[in-house]
Amino acid sequence: MSVWTVEPASAITGRLRVPGDKSISHRALIFSALAHGQSNLHGLLEARDVQATAACLKKLGVGLHKVAGSWRVTGRDGALSEPDNVLDCGNSGTTMRLLMGVLASQPFFSVLTGDVHLRNRPMGRVTKPLGAMGAHFRSRDKGRLAPVAITGCKLRVLDYDSPIASAQVKSALMLATLGTSGTLRYREPFRSRDHTERMLRWLGVFVSEEEDGQLVLNGGQRLIARDINVPADISSAAFFMVAASIVPGSDLILEGVGVNPTRTGVIDVLRSMGASIDVLGESEVSGEPVADIRVKYVGLKGTRIDGSIIPRLVDELPVLAVAAAYAEGQTVIADAKELRVKESDRIKATVLGLQAIGVNADEREDGMVINGGIVRGGKVSSEGDHRIAMAFAVAALGAKTSCKILDTENVATSYPNFRKDLQYVAGQ
Ligand code: S3P
Repeated sequence: MSVWTVEPASAITGRLRVPGDKSISHRALIFSALAHGQSNLHGLLEARDVQATAACLKKLGVGLHKVAGSWRVTGRDGALSEPDNVLDCGNSGTTMRLLMGVLASQPFFSVLTGDVHLRNRPMGRVTKPLGAMGAHFRSRDKGRLAPVAITGCKLRVLDYDSPIASAQVKSALMLATLGTSGTLRYREPFRSRDHTERMLRWLGVFVSEEEDGQLVLNGGQRLIARDINVPADISSAAFFMVAASIVPGSDLILEGVGVNPTRTGVIDVLRSMGASIDVLGESEVSGEPVADIRVKYVGLKGTRIDGSIIPRLVDELPVLAVAAAYAEGQTVIADAKELRVKESDRIKATVLGLQAIGVNADEREDGMVINGGIVRGGKVSSEGDHRIAMAFAVAALGAKTSCKILDTENVATSYPNFRKDLQYVAGQ
């Protein structure tokens, strides 16, 4: 088992470009694979989750290879080939759920599986609405868990009120719709990340959004291949934003970060906690807003994180909980039940981790309560979850003594060089 020992730091300084956005990288590969023509993908995240998507696409007959540091994809103009073996999505929920949407309308048999964490994550949220479109899935536990077998067929379109704000569900239904004819109408309780909508537009697809937030997509539209530049991942940058916000004397610039408003909840919350965060030189790259982010240490105070902001920062909640541990006063996180079905039960893993390093924190059914104060240090289990491991490596930087973080292997799913980059900005 891989274990990190992280020492306290004296300041977090310098400039850093974190790797490419994971959500956008998956979509760049999948949409280019479905497009008509060839595309070059620049700045794609080179990590296990995205490699899992690439490997699945290759098995589905997609031409994919590296040319001078970028990925060249030869699109199949909507028609993939039957794979001769199961498709392994590894630890990646996005790979599995988006591919379900693609494969539901492909006229062949396929099976999707993943690692032990992914096989126990809920898939009914995707198989149920896709089933209502006529898709055929077979799996254990009444269709709720992977492995999932899919027999592709002609689908009907859907008018769907999603019970959850999930970009994976939304994207799966949009991809299924593209493989059929008719119009998808999709509503969700709060707006989830809109990378699919933006990238489809970039590739020439017409997607509209009505005044009430309803998404409308006509099926059967062709995707036209076009080069894509992937911004740095704000979810990876978030670890460094928090690091610089909790270690006195810090002043850090994060370069070329994606600042799509459906993802910037972490900036809003850190600012509401008193953090100094400047968003500099915003521009647009392949339909996505990008900027440099400067973070200076000023000291934090507690806050409340709940309601419509949750989907805008759902992956950042473990590291925001770490920020809360260093803040003056209490922080309450609520309406975040989704955290229980991520790569681990992140409510449990975060609270147990905080308690293990001497923080007064309590679990709630849909979140947690954290009382800021002295962070002692100690031994934390990451539960095999990349974001829990990275969040506690950040927690260690401001602690009284070192922290040992157990089971850090899965950091490679999203950020293989995280440890090295953290040591670099921490001057360690
Ligand atoms: C993702 C959407 C989110 C997020 C996940 C990536 C995506 O999940 O937590 O890490 O790329 O669409 P949900 O759609 O389940 O909220």
